[in-house]
Amino acid sequence: MIIIANWKMNKDFKDLERFMDSFISLQSWEAISDLKIFFSPSFPLINEVRNIINYNSLNSKIRICAQNCHHEIDGAFTGEVSVKVLDSLGVSSVIIGHSERRNYFNETNDIIEKKISNCIKYDMIPILCFGENLNERKKGNYLNVIESQVNILNSFKKIDHEIILAYEPVWAIGSGLTPSLDEINEVHLFVKNKFPKLKILYGGSLNLNNANDILSLNNIDGGLIGGASLDPYSFSSIIRSIK
Ligand code: PGA
Repeated sequence: MIIIANWKMNKDFKDLERFMDSFISLQSWEAISDLKIFFSPSFPLINEVRNIINYNSLNSKIRICAQNCHHEIDGAFTGEVSVKVLDSLGVSSVIIGHSERRNYFNETNDIIEKKISNCIKYDMIPILCFGENLNERKKGNYLNVIESQVNILNSFKKIDHEIILAYEPVWAIGSGLTPSLDEINEVHLFVKNKFPKLKILYGGSLNLNNANDILSLNNIDGGLIGGASLDPYSFSSIIRSIK
């Protein structure tokens, strides 16, 4: 089981230190064996997260995940961050194609495919987000939309490299709404049938009240948590609630 804390553009240096202090003391680390926790801070905090993990000898339990990378390895792209830099900072995975990037930064499937390919080159795990918006859900064509988003992985089918998928219905992100268990199951099964070897996480308003039910579903390999991962007590309670 994989649980990713996607902090988005939240937390400064001080918040991070306070969070890590509380979170590390709240968790009973010996009890965590099958669970991998990924922290996904904003770029400037990555190094400090790494230092804290090393200092507490938690490398086998906590990994660092970036929230994005540029689609080129290096070059004249002012303000951007490439997988090459992330790799040198000890980042092991990158969230790719989050709906906030697709919607606010016009990320297309072509760009997303290049980013995945760069992650593979640098031996990092790409975490490909996909999911329909509310209109697509209401119109009933959500499986076609999802298929077009995940089909970019067909180019990587022959490559033996770990890729993780994350189903994040856009209308569930930060809204407090979640699909029913049957609806989540339908999508996960659909995608598992296409890519049986890949892990699929669920994300979108996961919280203490729904995490155990959702994450207990058969075809779910973990969760991608935004809002409820910002507070150490809430995030730690979610982790403890997972059976
Ligand atoms: P949320 O965000 O948990 O706040 O809905 C999830 C995400 O966007 O990854």
